[in-house]
Parts: sequence; C-alpha cells; structure tokens
Amino acid sequence: MLEKLNEIEHLGLEALKQVGGESELETWRVAHLGRNSALMQLFNGFGQLAKEERPLIGQRANEVKKALEAVYAARAEEIRHAALKRSMEQERLDVTLPGRHVPLGRLHPDTQILRELYRIFGEMGFQVYRSREVESDEYNFQLLNFPIGHPARDMQDTYFLESEGRVENPMVLRTHTSPGQIHAMREIAARNPRNPPPVRIVLPGMVYRYEQMDARHETQFDQLEGLAVGPGITFSNLKGTLADMARRLFGQGVRTRFRASFFPFTEPSAEYDIECFLCGGKGCAVCGGGWLEIGGCGMVHPVVLQNGGYDPERYTGFAFGLGPQRIAMLRYGINDIRYFWENDLRFLEQF
Ligand code: FA5
Repeated sequence: MLEKLNEIEHLGLEALKQVGGESELETWRVAHLGRNSALMQLFNGFGQLAKEERPLIGQRANEVKKALEAVYAARAEEIRHAALKRSMEQERLDVTLPGRHVPLGRLHPDTQILRELYRIFGEMGFQVYRSREVESDEYNFQLLNFPIGHPARDMQDTYFLESEGRVENPMVLRTHTSPGQIHAMREIAARNPRNPPPVRIVLPGMVYRYEQMDARHETQFDQLEGLAVGPGITFSNLKGTLADMARRLFGQGVRTRFRASFFPFTEPSAEYDIECFLCGGKGCAVCGGGWLEIGGCGMVHPVVLQNGGYDPERYTGFAFGLGPQRIAMLRYGINDIRYFWENDLRFLEQF
C-alpha cells in the first residue's frame, strides 16, 4: 500500500510538469485529486485495511494528499501570474495619454435669443402661447383683415399647400405668427365670453415666405409675436414695452425708433428699428441705412379684436411681431442671416 502511495505521488508530480495552462491544470486536478482519482479511491477503501496498518498508511496518504495539493496551488499561482504578465505586455495601457475630447452640445443661437426674449417678456407678465405652423387662409389672412385679393397680401409671398376643395380657404404655411393672435384671443375669450379676460402673451415660432434671399431675408425664419388686450391699453404702452425690451437686451444706451407703417390688422401701425451695431449706424449690407428693422407693431385693429371675441368698444390692444434672428444678428455681430440654418459647425460652435 505504501508503494502504491509513492507511485501516486510520483505520477502526480511528473504529470504536473507537463501542465501548461489553466484548462490542463483543471484536468490534472480532476485526475489526481478529484473524487475518482486513485488517491481518493484509496481513502475510500480505508475501512478494508487491517487495523494496525491504518495509522501508518493513513499518515502517508495524508502526506501525499497535502504534497499534491501544495504543488497544485503553487502551479495555479504560477499560471495566473504568467497570464497576467502576458496580458500586461500585450494590452499595454498608457495612463498618461490625454483623454478623448467629448464635444459639448450647445443651444442654437436662435434658441438662445428666443429664450432670452421669453425671460424678458416673462418678467413683464407675458405668457408663452404656441400656435400652429400650417394655417388656413382664413386665419393667416382673412380674420386679420386681409380680404381675398387685398393688395396687402403681396407683402407676404406665400407657400400654398395643395388644398383640394378649399376654394376660398386654402391651407398655407403661415407667413407670420399673427394668426396665433386670433387662436389665442378666441381661446381666452371663451373662458368668459361676456367678460373676456385680458390677454398678455408672446407667440414664438417658425414662419415661411417665398422670399428673395439676401443678408437679412430667409425663406424660413422665426418670429415672436406679442399681444396685449385689455381695457385702456394705449400706443404708449406698446412703445414702452418695446423700448424696455431693447434696453434689457442691449443696455440703457441703445437707440431705437418707430416709423409709421401699414398692416391691415393694426391701426395705427409702425415698424420698429434698432440702430445697427455692426456699422455703428453708418449703413452696411445688413442694415441698409444704419437701422435694422426688428419688427412690425401697432394697435390691434377693431375688426381683429371683434374676430377674436373682444368688443372693440370696451377693449383695446397692442401687438408686435419681432424677428429674433435679426436681434441675434445685432447681439452677436452676425452679418448674414443665411448662416442660421446652414448648419455649419464653424458658425454654430461660436455661440
Ligand atoms: C409681420 O410679419 C407682421 N405680422 C408683424 C406684426 C405683428 C405687425 C403684429 C403688427 C402687429 P413683417 O413682414 O414686417 O411683419 O415681419 C416682421 C419681422 O420679421 C421683420 O421686422 C423682420 O424682423 C422679420 N422678417 C420679415 N421677413 C423676414 C425674412 N424674410 N427673413 C428674416 N426675417 C424676416
């Protein structure tokens, strides 16, 4: 029996010399220390040994088991160490290399200006009201006092949509944010039709015109409409509101002016200009004559108030429509409006 144990030990040690990697080591463990290995079988047959043989054989068997377990553990450690060394050599990591640059996203300059305008008008008590971009001729023109065939329609070259059967009322891409005035007034007046609540809102959004493009005209651009309706609202409220907006945007020293103008849906009407910072008021390709037109404005026409559900005998109101991109051009010194939607990162990353 002792000889058998010696042989088990010898065979185990010899076989371990051939073991090269983890899976071979596992095969070795099963063969030499596993439940069915010769050594374990010998432990299992212990009961059949003569009583006096047991201590000696038992001691030697334990020695062999411990010896095999010890060489197994040492070999396992060697193999693990070699694998780690190999992986460190092959997959070398230079922790001193600088990290990869993750480009930071940012808001489009037009969105930045719009948000600034929401804040400014929000501080003056205006709420943001959103309206649709696809409109009917009725809302875009007729309810705003542009009857069919009215020459004032020529001011806004319109994209008409295919509108089968809607002869007198085709669908259009809105040419301005003003149709939102009617939607908003009707919705707010409906809350109390006998005594409609006052209105103080701004209506932002994209508008579309079939324009000849140049440094200050795009075919698609944002507008920010403003509308205040209530008893006793005057033109000086309108002037004060727009002048305050310009001061909050550009500082106390900014020069602004109102020029008499015409819109069918306001009476009286005006254009609102801010002195061009790009040329210091001398006149350039962007402004033309030293002033950049920022928006149109005026007192809401009685017919429009009526169409919105407000009695023009009891209510007056002012409205304005601004071009936020024109404001961004002044703010950031952008000399061509066409940059806004070209999506050139060299432009966008400057803001
Ligand atoms: C209007 O669209 C009127 N609805 C504004 C208004 C509202 C008047 C309420 C009275 C009461 P106008 O066509 O002038 O008006 O456009 C208003 C502003 O939009 C312009 O001052 C300008 O800042 C901007 N704008 C107009 N056309 C273009 C264009 N093609 N590209 C970029 N901005 C434009």
